[in-house]
Amino acid sequence: MKPADHIQEAQTAEAFSKQSPFFDDLDAQNPILVWMRTCVRNQMLELLHPGDSILELNAGTGLDSFFFAEKGFQVLATDLAPGMIEAMERKKAQMASPWMVKVQACSFNNLENISGSFDHIFSNFGGLNCAEDISSVISQFSRLLNKGGKVTLVMMPPFCPWELLLALKGNFKTAFRRFQKHGALSHIEGVHFRTYYYSPSYIRKAFGPKYQHLSCRGLGITVPPPYLETFPSRYPRLFRGLIRMEEKVCHTPPFSSMGDHFILSMQKKA
Ligand SMILES: C[S@@+](CC[C@H](N)C(=O)[O-])C[C@H]1O[C@@H](n2cnc3c(N)ncnc32)[C@H](O)[C@@H]1O
Repeated sequence: MKPADHIQEAQTAEAFSKQSPFFDDLDAQNPILVWMRTCVRNQMLELLHPGDSILELNAGTGLDSFFFAEKGFQVLATDLAPGMIEAMERKKAQMASPWMVKVQACSFNNLENISGSFDHIFSNFGGLNCAEDISSVISQFSRLLNKGGKVTLVMMPPFCPWELLLALKGNFKTAFRRFQKHGALSHIEGVHFRTYYYSPSYIRKAFGPKYQHLSCRGLGITVPPPYLETFPSRYPRLFRGLIRMEEKVCHTPPFSSMGDHFILSMQKKA
């Protein structure tokens, strides 16, 4: 890793550790995030087979890891931030079936530290947007996947219609932040780190010819991004209408490549 990567890792670890004590409350209280997470889980459940094993990258407090473990899938939950790892260890200690989840502190830049192979590699809600060199992260997946294994990545693309609308209000900084060549500066709990925005086509190319494309959908195309969390209570009928509209177009190009996030699933060829 380059020295700059170590700085980025130290800063993301500090930012997300600081956020970890109230991460789950922020998530549960935000109706847009709740809807988005349900979309991601439904997509995963469509692709998983009974008994499948999952390697979750940047698992955070393990909201999805424990959800899938309770559905009967064996999960290895990994993250970089010590606060997130502690939160997962606490949840595991209270679980009725703790053998379904293993927790390992590991950066997705050091996947050589993971042993074993998995049926599905999963990364949710933009953790991989903290990676400056996404191609080198993806190049590690093949070794970690069983024959015919799948990958589902939920990442933030450059083109987010709601954010571009902010230009009309004169907020050019936020409107165009996703198009910056060297990533945008983000901050959580006063700690700054860089976020890099990748298009689904760039990610598909990074997988190369040994993988086939399964599906891609935009998430948060007509539905506003999660930081507009009061939108659903202020405009409940409009919010429901926007969800219906999004569900009609989210798999169709060009909408499938835009939004606050996209959900891309790939499969390693047998
Ligand atoms: C927005 S949170 C998403 C957490 C979780 N996937 C979820 O959906 O709730 C991003 C996560 O990425 C993790 N992360 C950032 N850089 C990482 C790295 N290099 N390796 C592993 N995890 C990382 C952070 O610690 C944080 O937990």
